Amino acid sequence: MTAVSPTPTDPARLLEELGRILGPTGVLTAARDMDPFCTDWRNLYHGRACAVLRPADTHELSAVVRLCAAHGVPMVPQGGNTSMVGGATPDDSGREIVICMSRMNRIRGIDPHEMTMEVEAGVPLKVAQDAAREAGMMLPLSISSEGSAQMGGILATNAGGNNTVRYGNARELLLGLEAVLPDGEVFHGLRRLRKDNTGYALRQLFVGSEGTLGFITRAIIQLQPAPKEVEVALCAVEDAQGALALFSAFRALDPALIQAFEYMSGTGMALVNELIAGASLPLEQPAPAYVLVELATPRPGTDLRAFMEGVLADAMEKGIVTDAVMGESETQRANLWKLREEHAEAQKRAGASVKNDVSVPVARVPELIARATQACMDLIPGIRPAPFGHLGDGNIHFNVVQPVDMPADAFLARSHDIMDAVADIVRDLDGSFSAEHGVGQLKPYMMAEWRGGAELATMRRIKEALDPHGLMNPGKIFPPAAPR
Ligand code: MLT
Ligand code: ZN
Repeated sequence: MTAVSPTPTDPARLLEELGRILGPTGVLTAARDMDPFCTDWRNLYHGRACAVLRPADTHELSAVVRLCAAHGVPMVPQGGNTSMVGGATPDDSGREIVICMSRMNRIRGIDPHEMTMEVEAGVPLKVAQDAAREAGMMLPLSISSEGSAQMGGILATNAGGNNTVRYGNARELLLGLEAVLPDGEVFHGLRRLRKDNTGYALRQLFVGSEGTLGFITRAIIQLQPAPKEVEVALCAVEDAQGALALFSAFRALDPALIQAFEYMSGTGMALVNELIAGASLPLEQPAPAYVLVELATPRPGTDLRAFMEGVLADAMEKGIVTDAVMGESETQRANLWKLREEHAEAQKRAGASVKNDVSVPVARVPELIARATQACMDLIPGIRPAPFGHLGDGNIHFNVVQPVDMPADAFLARSHDIMDAVADIVRDLDGSFSAEHGVGQLKPYMMAEWRGGAELATMRRIKEALDPHGLMNPGKIFPPAAPR
């Protein structure tokens, strides 16, 4: 099959035709209107766009994608713009069009028998969670950016977060999917079947594709029963080895109760206490490291509290836990969670930071933290490693904050040295350089080294088959191809 090249762009004609499809409020072209869509949450990437489009439904999206494809214009899908790896930011050529999904924000239905929810891509995760709760169920995916992050982006990046330990990543919650392909065709995969072995599971191809294969427009998500009993504890531990021992203690007794098992370093917790209004550590004194554990059950009357108290008392007796506090009310539980959820924001306020969203087999988390801490301190004296994250699934955000007296630019100039030093250790521990944030435009250079050979070659063939002109979210995931 020979690929037919799209016609070269005539920007004025293209914008006029887009305006006819989307109406005047659906196309933004003024720099001040487009600016928020051209910078990422971390303020690392500053692109320029030829326009920002705001389609209201799949039909409009399909029409604009068809048109952009015909004009050979690259498209960048954008949900809540919360990517940590620049995955939704255009480049600085001014040629790319950002397609913002926020107007496609309807919850199309909740089925109490199937325990499913059908959402459009632009529904913020928090809105979907609240709707599930009102219907007496739970959408079991929780991330720090849930107030802004949208369902389409969450699926496109296969987001994980706090509940992966129990329910898996976004991929595991997905039953059906609709997407607009790079030529504007609509892929209709909105099935709600648990069993459907009819060839390749194409819907899963879009999950984790980071918008490089098409736009996710609608999805059917598996819900869970709402918990009837929830307990949250914040525990002080000596180090990550202690945190792992506590995880094993809970897991040995009842892994099905663990809803979240989060690790935090003393450094990260100190930053939260210093920089986040209303945050305060409810323990006698600061500790070298902390665990936040949440247990939950949909069965009433199980006395979850007694179970948690028992495990913690035993852990304290063994010296695994040095201090602990359990939330007594919903407000107290939320305050404990705040100490964990504000880590990213506190680090942003503390100055420049380098994020390493990595995963290793759970048993190797302590070694990862110890070795990566040492490696970073050897690299830059005064650097502040503040690792935290989802110990229960092996995903640690090995984030490091700049030394207090180092200029931010000078620190960021060492980003790749830091990322490479951490990645070397992660590789040695059989881990991954990207656990839940994706590759975006921050890490394509790592793909060749980590996913080279048949794996990357196969991904390229899939990309070329669906998007032969490379118009979908260019510059993300793939390193530039080696010249033939
Ligand atoms: C989180 O779990 O809070 C994040 O994924 C954020 C981060 O890496 O900074
Ligand atoms: Zn995370």
